[in-house]
Amino acid sequence: MTPEPFSPPGTDESMAGPPPGCPAHGIGPGGARRLYGPEAEDLGAVYEKLRAEHGTVAPALLHEDVPMWVVLGHSENLHMVSSPSLYSRDNRLWTALQDGTIKPDHPLMPHMAWQPICCFAEGDEHLRLRGAVTGAMSTIDHRGIRRHINRATQHLVNKFCEEGRADLVGQFAEHLPMAVMCEILGMPEEYNDRIVQAARDMLKGTETAIASNAYIMDTLTRLTARRRAEPEDDFTSHLINHPAGLTDEEVGQHLRVVLIVAFESTANLLANVLRVVLTDPGFRAQLNGGQMTVPQAVEQSLWDEPPFSTILGYFAKQDTELGGQRIRQGDGLLLGIAPGNVDPRVRPDPSANMMGNRSHLAFSGGPHECPGQDIGRAIADVGVDALLSRLPDVQLACEEDELRWRASISNRHLVELPVYFEPKPQQDVKALPGHAPVPSQRKDWQIGTMQSEPPAAAPKPQPAAPPRQAAPAPAEPARPKGAWRRFRLWWRGY
Ligand code: HEM
Repeated sequence: MTPEPFSPPGTDESMAGPPPGCPAHGIGPGGARRLYGPEAEDLGAVYEKLRAEHGTVAPALLHEDVPMWVVLGHSENLHMVSSPSLYSRDNRLWTALQDGTIKPDHPLMPHMAWQPICCFAEGDEHLRLRGAVTGAMSTIDHRGIRRHINRATQHLVNKFCEEGRADLVGQFAEHLPMAVMCEILGMPEEYNDRIVQAARDMLKGTETAIASNAYIMDTLTRLTARRRAEPEDDFTSHLINHPAGLTDEEVGQHLRVVLIVAFESTANLLANVLRVVLTDPGFRAQLNGGQMTVPQAVEQSLWDEPPFSTILGYFAKQDTELGGQRIRQGDGLLLGIAPGNVDPRVRPDPSANMMGNRSHLAFSGGPHECPGQDIGRAIADVGVDALLSRLPDVQLACEEDELRWRASISNRHLVELPVYFEPKPQQDVKALPGHAPVPSQRKDWQIGTMQSEPPAAAPKPQPAAPPRQAAPAPAEPARPKGAWRRFRLWWRGY
């Protein structure tokens, strides 16, 4: 296939585009497809059309018809992120920004405004800033964090377990990452509904987003000042005292990036995994039957529904070629995580189980590859396991097609995940790990064990799945109950 040349708007007579309401409305100047507007309601379908029309790298249009390449191929995405001599995250190189195609009030400007942080930095400056972040991360006690994730999960479940119903997005998936990140940063006392609300608000870009950002920055600036004066053994103190010598301004900005990236991505991941468990009987049966572990389920979700579907963006440092397309210096390219994950060359059968394979693009790759992926995975692994152990009979409390999503070019996330279950007593969160009651085993949270009716107030309960859909749980050998088992639970962070 010969890819069509991609002409920026203004260079082609087809500029006018079809009038609103025309069936071809998803096509803009130069014949490129739009990634916004009505067409963008199903971006996955748009990416497949682009793949069929152009191959692994396709021309497309962002809001206000700003041209952008979308990288759809798995290996092309990896090549791009791993070639810092050709492509940069520094959007000041972008021709569309330099020549005024992107106006200061462009809707994506909040996501694009350059800042002196590691995400946009390159070369030595990137090494300095990222080195401080990864250096501080290397001091995190991962077993201690897993224990904290488990305790935070128990605490959150205690808040709704007696009610027999909950919204697992608003009451769980959005809270757990924030609780864990506040602990990691060294400000557990700042974790509350307000900071969760502020982070959510910032990302939604509502009219109160600026005030919410100010609230979070104020919290982080106060934390920086406290730790500069009196360091402790936490991420913030290690970031401040790293030999890279970050200024207070740089420390505050990096705390904000870490907090917000971790919040958004991990909340999405938790909600996505739980939704599949609740809506796909085959998936849940595999978990219950032991054919799939929770970490494998998390990895599957990172393939199928990566928390960031694209990253805006990478920018060409010189004229080059990618996927058969001629890329000019200053062109912008969208890192296509979701389309790259379903590239038929790496996944001929997109419904196939990836069995824990980690070569998806969810964490990107190359010099900017997500440095927090172990923490994101730990929150999802421990959080989902602990929640399902507490609520083995949890069921979706609405029809699957009633679930609502909020979509943007960078991600698609659930607004709510209403569930019901048999009301449960609270559990002691503070008990020492070795003396904690042994959590019920996964064998219990299988389909078909749902005996109880949902509480009267629960909306539109789903009937329990018929027993024929359940994978027969293999007879488990009697488990050791002594010190070794307690040690193992402690070791895993319980
Ligand atoms: C499931 C959870 C997560 C996912 C899917 C995820 C994904 C990503 C992606 C796609 C990038 C952009 C890479 C690029 O520019 O090419 C990124 C960058 C980053 N992530 Fe994560 N992330 C997750 C969790 C976290 C957590 C928990 C932290 C912190 C504790 C974190 C910290 C960062 C930072 C600091 C960067 C910027 C790195 C750089 O530009 O050098 N992330 N992440």
